[in-house]
Amino acid sequence: MIVLGFESSCDETGVALVDAAVKSVPRLLAHALFSQIDMHQAYGGVVPELASRDHIRRVLPLTHEVMQQAQRTLAEVDVIAYTRGPGLAGALLVGAGVACALAAALGKPVMGVHHLEGHLLSPFLGADPPEFPFVALLVSGGHTQLMRVERVGSYELLGESIDDAAGEAFDKSAKLMGLPYPGGPHLSKLAESGDGAAFKLPRPLLHSGNLDFSFAGLKTAVLTQAKKLGSELESRKADLAASTQAAIVDVLVRKSMSAMAQTGLNRLVVAGGVGANALLREQLNAVCLKRGIRVHYPELHLCTDNGAMIALAAGMRLQAGLESLDGSYSFDVKPRWPLAELVA
Ligand code: KG4
Ligand code: ZN
Repeated sequence: MIVLGFESSCDETGVALVDAAVKSVPRLLAHALFSQIDMHQAYGGVVPELASRDHIRRVLPLTHEVMQQAQRTLAEVDVIAYTRGPGLAGALLVGAGVACALAAALGKPVMGVHHLEGHLLSPFLGADPPEFPFVALLVSGGHTQLMRVERVGSYELLGESIDDAAGEAFDKSAKLMGLPYPGGPHLSKLAESGDGAAFKLPRPLLHSGNLDFSFAGLKTAVLTQAKKLGSELESRKADLAASTQAAIVDVLVRKSMSAMAQTGLNRLVVAGGVGANALLREQLNAVCLKRGIRVHYPELHLCTDNGAMIALAAGMRLQAGLESLDGSYSFDVKPRWPLAELVA
């Protein structure tokens, strides 16, 4: 079963072709991505209207590129998938509209996919795919969640951020330090030459007794520290970046370990943009090794938004018999859409 997937929920246009044959491991045939980061950088964050317009410009050339890379024709595609939500409404509508129009023109079925389900299944395209059940730590720009994943389509929320997401904490702290958007990768690069113990920053909800997160206080603490440093900020920036990263990673690692203990599971899957963070991977690898927990990550280039995870999630849902493709080409998008609503 060949699935063509479109991702356009935020500032990346992703298109991919995945072979999700029944009884075999899903295989990525080709994928192409255009990141709008340069365009939004001047504004310090994503401008939704500009994002939508750029998705329109990129989506068809990327589709041609993918088909060419895979040496396939559109006639060979069995299903077309798109991100239905959550995300920016206008941006989602571009992917949904193109997917449905293309599907109607080709007479193929079309399917809307949950963006976070894409992220959390993305390690299945890696060299070391997980087995069910597992705990998933979903850490993206918009979400920080711990989920118990029993099988495809069965996601139990164990805890989540009550305010900012982990990626947002990286991005907002980075912005306060004058780093470009999106701050996560820039902050973590700068942190390499800093001391993570230089500043004592808060680890909110670490001892809350539940699996929820809170990161809003961290950016306030970073701001206070930056003001205190005044003219010294420039020379201590790497230390502040390293201390910020250490605080975020510390909370993510310890809460993940609490989730492992609470569920009694011994497999952890990390997904979403922050899953690309080297310190997070290093610390999780170390603690999981000690506790006999297997930890799985998506390939680095599939951590952030991409079309491959959307095509993959569609393929895996179809394989699991969770979707009936009704031949209708009407569509809606869901800018807000809790993953738990998907439960099979
Ligand atoms: O999953 P994603 O691409 O988009 C959403 O669905 O939100 O995640 C983007 C987030 C941004 O906040 C970005 O700063 C963060 O992931 N990110 C990182 C790293 N790479 C991306 N954060 C920390 N370290 C990184 N290496
Ligand atoms: Zn995402």
